[in-house]
Amino acid sequence: MSKSLSHVFLPVFGGTALVLAVAVAIANRNYGQSKIETLETRIGQVETHAAVAQENAQAEANRAAELELKVEEIQTAAAERIANGTNLTAPAPSHDGTYGLGRPALEEEIAAWDVDVLPDGRGLPVGSGDVWTGEEVFVDRCASCHGEFAEGADNWPVLAGGFDTLADEDPVKTVGSYWPHLSTAWDYISRSMPFGEAGTLTADETYAIVAYILYSNDLVDDDFVLNNENFADFKMYNMDGFVVDVRPETEYAEWREEPCMENCKTETAVTMRSVFLVETPPEGGSNSVMNGASADGLPTFTAEGPSFTPTAAPIPEEEATAAPAVQEIEEADQTIELFAAGEKVFKKCKSCHQVGDGAKDSTGPALNGVIGANAGSVEGFKYSKAMKAAAEAGLVWTEEEMAAFLTKPKEYMKGTRMSFAGLKKQDDIQALIIYLKTFGS
Ligand code: HEC
Ligand code: HEC
Repeated sequence: MSKSLSHVFLPVFGGTALVLAVAVAIANRNYGQSKIETLETRIGQVETHAAVAQENAQAEANRAAELELKVEEIQTAAAERIANGTNLTAPAPSHDGTYGLGRPALEEEIAAWDVDVLPDGRGLPVGSGDVWTGEEVFVDRCASCHGEFAEGADNWPVLAGGFDTLADEDPVKTVGSYWPHLSTAWDYISRSMPFGEAGTLTADETYAIVAYILYSNDLVDDDFVLNNENFADFKMYNMDGFVVDVRPETEYAEWREEPCMENCKTETAVTMRSVFLVETPPEGGSNSVMNGASADGLPTFTAEGPSFTPTAAPIPEEEATAAPAVQEIEEADQTIELFAAGEKVFKKCKSCHQVGDGAKDSTGPALNGVIGANAGSVEGFKYSKAMKAAAEAGLVWTEEEMAAFLTKPKEYMKGTRMSFAGLKKQDDIQALIIYLKTFGS
């Protein structure tokens, strides 16, 4: 180091000496008095300059020495780490234990996680903040969502007030009215607010904000200063409003049996069908086979297996046996369609004829059971002479006769009182006959 200092000092002192020599030589040449004065001033300036340069040089030398020391420190520390095996850039050393995985957490890593603040103040960093600073920071960082007075903007959470609402159906739970510990506010704000910018508040800012929120809740005066020393002493409004839940010890046993967790049952049986429990609809469902079923004879399931052995469904010997079944279904489907179509066509007859339960004669006779019946046979109905004559002649309403009649009633039976032009479409007539057939006599 002394070597580097001499490098700095030599040029400075050498320069000063040189200037002094020049000045003396010039004086010896009997220059005018004024010139001498000027030169004396100049010498003074140069000397001052030299002194400043010397100071700067000294400062620089000190700084260089400091840095040299630091470098030495860092190198020593790094060497120690490598020697101790805690080199952070090296792969984690394998660890003893069942799986040989992982390594003990470093102190720094634990510290980064261990940020929680407890009601008694443990975990708080050293720091402090007053209400007025708190207001400034709050307006700047929080008010856009929580309102300038912590009253909550739009639908964002309100942080102040609500003191007389806790017993209401719709209580306003705020930091002031509801939170039992101040540490929750400090911890929550420090970790998660401002929303979307968590972790950007300093400890002092957080103390100040918490002080301001207390002020907004009228819990402190405007000269209040919150710090890590007085923090744990602060009593929150609702601190006694929470109770320890003792129901597991006091109540659960009253209405709960310990569930069996092993070797509980050797046999399970189906004891009931849902149809016995729920009310089945009167139509359709009431005819369900299940309604006639009973719990007797239902299969049971034991460790050995079910109480019945399902047998494979018999395989049809010939395809022919399956064919009629398909045909039947198709026919049934067709009949349903025709019935619906016939019901529609019957609307044209409804002004004069009734069918179904309680059907009476009106302009025309009731038509229950008319297909296959003798013509003009509804007792009490006043038929035309033509219809009576046809009846006497033995006319029977077969499907063919009915179709002919309905195509053109007046042409089919001259003199009939049925004032109906007739149905043009044979499909409509066929459908109508199917429909009429469903109403018995
Ligand atoms: C961008 C909007 C926004 C900003 C800015 C903001 N917050 Fe919040 N704050 C929220 C939202 C949203 C919630 C509710 C979060 C949740 O329930 O998960 C909340 C919840 C809170 C709560 C808990 C309220 C309760 O009763 O549950 C506190 C306390 C709080 N914020 C304080 C602050 C503070 C202090 C600041 C400023 C440093 C701040 N917030 C900035 C949006 C914001
Ligand atoms: C404007 C009223 C009117 C309309 C509409 C009408 N009928 Fe008639 N129908 C009568 C009258 C009246 C008679 C009795 C005819 C007679 O005595 O000559 C009759 C008789 C009948 C008979 C014979 C009944 C028996 O007892 O022998 C049948 C079948 C019949 N109608 C079917 C129909 C059908 C099907 C329709 C609809 C497509 C229809 N009618 C539309 C008035 C009507």
